[in-house]
Amino acid sequence: MIARSAAVWAMKYALPGVGLRAAARRGEAISLAVAPGIRHDPFPAYDAIRAQGPLVHGRFVSATASHSSADAVLRSEVFRAGPTGAPFRALDRLLSAAIDPRALGPDDPPSLLAIAPPEHTRIRRLVSRAFTARAIAALSARVQDLAHEMLDAIAATKPATFDLIDSYAALLPVTVISEILGVPTQMRHQFLVWGNQAALALEPGLSWRDYRRADAAARNAHAWLDEHIDRLRRNPGDDLLSQLIQTADESDRLTHTELRITALLVLGAGFETTVNLIGNAVALLLAHPDQLDRLQRDPTGWDNAIEEVLRLDSPVQITLRIPNSDTEVAGVPVRGGRPVVVMLGGANRDPDVFTDPHRFDSTRPNAREHLAFSAGPHFCLGAQLARLEAATAARALFERFPDLALDDQPTRRDTRVLRGYQHLPLRTGW
Ligand code: HEM
Repeated sequence: MIARSAAVWAMKYALPGVGLRAAARRGEAISLAVAPGIRHDPFPAYDAIRAQGPLVHGRFVSATASHSSADAVLRSEVFRAGPTGAPFRALDRLLSAAIDPRALGPDDPPSLLAIAPPEHTRIRRLVSRAFTARAIAALSARVQDLAHEMLDAIAATKPATFDLIDSYAALLPVTVISEILGVPTQMRHQFLVWGNQAALALEPGLSWRDYRRADAAARNAHAWLDEHIDRLRRNPGDDLLSQLIQTADESDRLTHTELRITALLVLGAGFETTVNLIGNAVALLLAHPDQLDRLQRDPTGWDNAIEEVLRLDSPVQITLRIPNSDTEVAGVPVRGGRPVVVMLGGANRDPDVFTDPHRFDSTRPNAREHLAFSAGPHFCLGAQLARLEAATAARALFERFPDLALDDQPTRRDTRVLRGYQHLPLRTGW
């Protein structure tokens, strides 16, 4: 098993890592935007890339931080998502063969994030029913109740300080998505731990040590889910996972591996990103008390404020696309098979679209034009749910604790693809 894991790590992370370091030595702007030191403030690097053109070529990869080019790439039928970003097709094929189906990560096929039509269309259709605007609107009261329950639990102990992430921002999304999927809520904490570790798999140039942690977490989550699928098969509930199991058992529309990775992706995507949105929103509003004050006087502004947080401090900063054939983007030729890094966080600060793009303005009229949820066929399936959760969570928090203040310097998560806080210590008067 170790040999197989080592082969996957070498192809998926070590080799691209060598390329990244070489690109850094050559001073390529692309490598700057994903360099380890840049994770706290990638925005100057995005600006530098955008200043070089709508699509910038490094030796092995290209990148865009331009809104119109990013949008075009994401919507283009010529570009595919995944598999994995290995720079050469032969390597891609070797990698697909080496990856263990019992340890698939969020960006390994057949995860939705890494497959193309017709497989992508078939699987996405089976899941999307649970996330229609109407289905999400019906969840609104439940999300509010959960938020208030969690705030009650904080208030009950009147702590001198509490960590927003641990006690609220992480807990709400994992509880909501567990209920939708039919995962017992007592598994929430375990899934938060596995999710944090498995999400490392999205990081470019991951170290062997971190890869082993991500791989072990993925294996544990897959094994638990297999047992849970058996339980639900014997005793189905009124939840998304039970529906998917039925589809898999009664038709050939979903294989077992597809079922398991789809469930894990929806679960992980359901909490690993929304926690960042809630944390980033609270931090930005505490740093802009005038804007928080306006929202407290006129709560109709909350939805737009969340769009502005998504734009300015995007919880997912980067994604990857690969052209199936030679093509061009904004007049710049790109060879088929060449990875293109799409800097969502950079596109969202493109001055061609957003006036004064580095400024936080919760009333910005076109905040919603951001690409924080991507665009095209892989547009985030949970966008409406994330919006509902973040607006509900932030509004309830500030209504309940109007004197909320930072108690200490917040710390950022140590990741470059996902952007959010690890700890956000707060205090309030009791
Ligand atoms: C603030 C919260 C969220 C952000 C910023 C976010 C962002 C994204 C982005 C950028 C993608 C596309 C990646 C790409 O194009 O390569 C995506 C896809 C996806 N998201 Fe989200 N997401 C969030 C919350 C959620 C939630 C709550 C769910 C729960 C259902 C979810 C489920 C998914 C799924 C299943 C996909 C794959 C869709 C596909 O490939 O067809 N996301 N998300």
